[in-house]
Amino acid sequence: MSGPNTDYDPVEVSTLNPDEVEAARDAALAAIDAAADLAALKQVRIDHAGDRSPLALANREIGALPPAARKDAGRRVGQARGAVNQALAARTAVLEAEHEERMLAEETVDVTMPTDRLPVGARHPLTTGAELIADIFVAMGWEIAEGPVIEAEWLNFDALNLGPDHPARTMQDTFWTDPPENGVVLRTHTSPVQARTMLSRTPPIYVVCPGRVFRTDPFDATHSPMFHQVEGLAIDEGLTLAHLKGTLDHFATAMFGEGIVTRFRPSYFPFTEPSAEVDLVCFVCRGVDSETCRTCRGEGWIEWGGCGVVNPRVLRACGVDSERYSGFAFGMGIDRTLMFRHGIEDLRDLFEGDLRFTTAFGSDL
Ligand code: DAH
Repeated sequence: MSGPNTDYDPVEVSTLNPDEVEAARDAALAAIDAAADLAALKQVRIDHAGDRSPLALANREIGALPPAARKDAGRRVGQARGAVNQALAARTAVLEAEHEERMLAEETVDVTMPTDRLPVGARHPLTTGAELIADIFVAMGWEIAEGPVIEAEWLNFDALNLGPDHPARTMQDTFWTDPPENGVVLRTHTSPVQARTMLSRTPPIYVVCPGRVFRTDPFDATHSPMFHQVEGLAIDEGLTLAHLKGTLDHFATAMFGEGIVTRFRPSYFPFTEPSAEVDLVCFVCRGVDSETCRTCRGEGWIEWGGCGVVNPRVLRACGVDSERYSGFAFGMGIDRTLMFRHGIEDLRDLFEGDLRFTTAFGSDL
């Protein structure tokens, strides 16, 4: 008959052999030390502190020992496991700190680095300028009208009281399309849009017509065979020259700032009667001490465009009752207006497409 095995010597249980326990602890500590990163340490934890690790297996053996031997074996295994857990915690802290530092270094953004993104585009100053002009009039309840750049001779000239033999036809050097007898031109001004508007709508009419126009001009600092105009036309009952003056003063002030108003000088255009040249107060010297001003050359005023009361012959040619309605019209160069507004000295800068020029106006959308 066998009694309790009180003489059982734990040393004989190999996993609880003090040397084995020590060796398992040392192996664990060495592996923990050697773990280069958190992933490696995770594996070390499984191997040396996990359920199937030598120390966990040794721990499980303790229960099978006789009570007398348990205490000693328990202490040794407990101390070994404690040392391993402590080393794991310490190594984890070190590796986590290292990881964080590495991430911070790797993810550092050098905000002073030059960007390699494509530059944002900028709208051309002529586009934004034409829109600014349109907005000034739309805010007064006017509408925008447009017409084709390849235009009928009749609309470009005849309807505007510029008959075939009218001497003023030569005022505008015209590009004719082939064959000339077809009577198709590149429009020489935006005034044909006046005729188109009157022919297609009934008064009251308040329209501005921005657009491209063409003349056989040289290409230099102040001329171009292609340039831009904005035409204005108002047809209503009881419109007078005073309405025209008030409208243009408002346009000038909105475009160039407080105090920049207009003056009229008598002139001639076949489509208006009376007609006037419109001048702006010089926006550089404002008419004060203008003798030394290089912008207006001592005039105090700068030429801006033409205007007048719509000639009744034009009203009749375009089907408007000239007894009931009157109106006014004006025409300005958009390019010239922008040159004034932005101090552009060479007209060609507006047409040559150099991005250094265009982007200087910003990415104004
Ligand atoms: N069409 C004229 C030109 O190109 C400008 C102009 C003058 C337009 C007087 C008008 C106007 O509407 O009334 O020279």
